[in-house]
Amino acid sequence: MEHLAAAVANLLRDLGDATVDRFLARWPEPALPVRPVEPSSLPVLRSLAPACAEGPPAAAPVLARLLALAPALAWRQTYGATEAPPGFLDRYGWTELIGLRGPVPATQLAVGFLLLGPHTTYPPHRHAAEEIYLPFAPASWQRGAEPWRDRPAGSPIHHAPWQRHGMRTAGSPLLALYLWCGGELAARSRFG
Ligand SMILES: [Fe+2]
Repeated sequence: MEHLAAAVANLLRDLGDATVDRFLARWPEPALPVRPVEPSSLPVLRSLAPACAEGPPAAAPVLARLLALAPALAWRQTYGATEAPPGFLDRYGWTELIGLRGPVPATQLAVGFLLLGPHTTYPPHRHAAEEIYLPFAPASWQRGAEPWRDRPAGSPIHHAPWQRHGMRTAGSPLLALYLWCGGELAARSRFG
């Protein structure tokens, strides 16, 4: 887990992005012991190997480690069947690597991976934390009142606290790194 976290930090540092660097300043000390997590799986994990295979070369160290460690991680969903669109929960999930619950403890930052299957829309949602996504595949993204825009792999996407955002895949899955800081790091996102 520490090696995956270190690979993520290297990837983010190499971006040379001022906003990403502000999140990196909250990176936890590597001396903290890894926290045991109860592994859990989700149907969307069938899309993990294809998503990792399509990632940009710069992300290869991260994606290889994630694929190897995926069975030991807790894959979760924020929404229940009554609030999610039909079919969404079959093609959506996330896991926290760093944070209040993930295997690498941190109190100022949460870092994890979001996975969406092909032909999936994650409807607009919002949360208290400020956020950066680093997508590993092209997808369509919407932020605030802006129109949907195609975004490439490897380019960070920033969301201010409570700013509405959504994403949409076409024929390929979307794996994306997320970073949260500020707000209540264990608070849930809400649709709308
Ligand atoms: Fe978000």
